[in-house]
Amino acid sequence: MQSLKRIAISLIIFLTFSMVANVFAADARMYYSTFDDYALDGKISANEYPNSYELTDVNSGNTFATLYWGHNNTHVFVGISGSFTGWVGFGMNEPGKGMAGADMVISSVENGNLTIGDYNAVGNVLPNKDDDQMPIKGAGTEENGVTTVEFIMPMASSDTAGQDHNWSPGNTYGFFVAAHESSDELLYHTYRTDPLTFELMKDSVSADPNDTKLGAKDSPFPITFISFLAVASVLVLIKKKKNQ
Ligand code: HEM
Repeated sequence: MQSLKRIAISLIIFLTFSMVANVFAADARMYYSTFDDYALDGKISANEYPNSYELTDVNSGNTFATLYWGHNNTHVFVGISGSFTGWVGFGMNEPGKGMAGADMVISSVENGNLTIGDYNAVGNVLPNKDDDQMPIKGAGTEENGVTTVEFIMPMASSDTAGQDHNWSPGNTYGFFVAAHESSDELLYHTYRTDPLTFELMKDSVSADPNDTKLGAKDSPFPITFISFLAVASVLVLIKKKKNQ
């Protein structure tokens, strides 16, 4: 009976730890790639990016865009495609943080021309253009109501004003995406994700093209939680039996 109790207690400690670890698990992964099949042309083809995620609008619960991405240790490659004709913004911040203090790349395609810029936001208000624009290379298309933008930006920036991200592999960062259904002028978003997190994977980790679902990576919370409940119930039963 005593050893059973010990096993149950060890299991509870283990499961509690894995649940805590799970809370800190990232929603997404950005993999390393050599980008052999890459073309900066505002069109996204199969195998161009290591993986992609469908982005859900917080208000409607519908998918409003697909995010494609990867990095090559010096630059981040991002592609966003969705059924809207207005602006689209890619936000970067610390995990869990939204607009306030975020670095943003905001773009729009108008009459076949892409406008893209480096922005920052001080709160839930109109973002400002950075004084020091990080070098972003971009391309975009708008066809049949679908906007597709692709851009390449440095993984870390020398911006001393602190308005840019500074990423290195092996770490977890925050990101989010917002878009306007029709306005190229920066007006309040029609669609936006929640603030999400991703792990910037080291080049020693092979890309997983099947990693296309946003959500806690590694230990699936419900399974851990259910196991936790099961072990806790066993403990209660042991205690009850002992008291009889
Ligand atoms: C004219 C420009 C913008 C205005 C006026 C604006 C305004 C707001 C407001 C009032 C909220 C509060 C919650 C809500 O209403 O959903 C919000 C939230 C949010 N916005 Fe914006 N926004 C703008 C641009 C952007 C851009 C460009 C992005 C992405 C790059 C973005 C991403 C978000 C996200 C992720 C949230 C939820 C987290 C948070 O509260 O910060 N917004 N925005």
